[in-house]
Amino acid sequence: SAGGPREPIDLVRYVGNRSSGRMGVALAAEAKRRGAEVVLVYANGSVPPPAGVEVVPAPTAADMKRELLARVDADVFVMAAAIADYRPSNPETGKRPKDREPWTLTLEPTDDVLAELGERRRNGQILVGFAADAGEAGLERARQKLANKRGNLFVFNDVSQSGIGFEAEDNEVVLLSAAGEREIGRRSKGDTAVAILDEVEGLLEGD
Ligand code: CTP
Repeated sequence: SAGGPREPIDLVRYVGNRSSGRMGVALAAEAKRRGAEVVLVYANGSVPPPAGVEVVPAPTAADMKRELLARVDADVFVMAAAIADYRPSNPETGKRPKDREPWTLTLEPTDDVLAELGERRRNGQILVGFAADAGEAGLERARQKLANKRGNLFVFNDVSQSGIGFEAEDNEVVLLSAAGEREIGRRSKGDTAVAILDEVEGLLEGD
């Protein structure tokens, strides 16, 4: 999965996040290059999907959940999408007219797709989660995700650093698995995808 959902507020407005889809598209391209049959469940990315990959548009968190759970038999899930954690309650079907008053939105939690995939994970299936977070405390939260979410591999990237992560060409990540932690220094998202999928191949062989 790649990109970031847009959760409607009304007919024209949405709540979104800064994900460009670039990391997930690089992973899809690299998986394709290695001979995998790739389905890219893609939310509103600004980067064109790679050739030869089946693209399934999934503009909201609910669409992502439906399309990903429909493919629960996949050998590997790589959850690069920044799926929305919250969506506006009761989006309006028309366009809300402007007035001079403040407008208060209520957000409700979405379902955690990664957790649901983790609950259903079968032996030999690889589940890769991402943890976009900030600083040493963020890395600690990524360790907790590895412990709690039944994913085999978590990819931590520090979104508080400039020049990497959201909207950037480069990334700099820490790979966390039961085997330990590996720091992948700053490099293009294409080369970061190579490192992540090397790790995935190792996990597939180890299983
Ligand atoms: N994710 C998901 N479903 C959501 C939100 C996130 O599957 N509704 C996935 C993302 O694709 C990513 C991972 O979960 O691979 C981490 O997302 P993140 O938002 O960083 O995690 P949190 O939701 O903050 O983690 P936690 O639930 O542990 O608080």
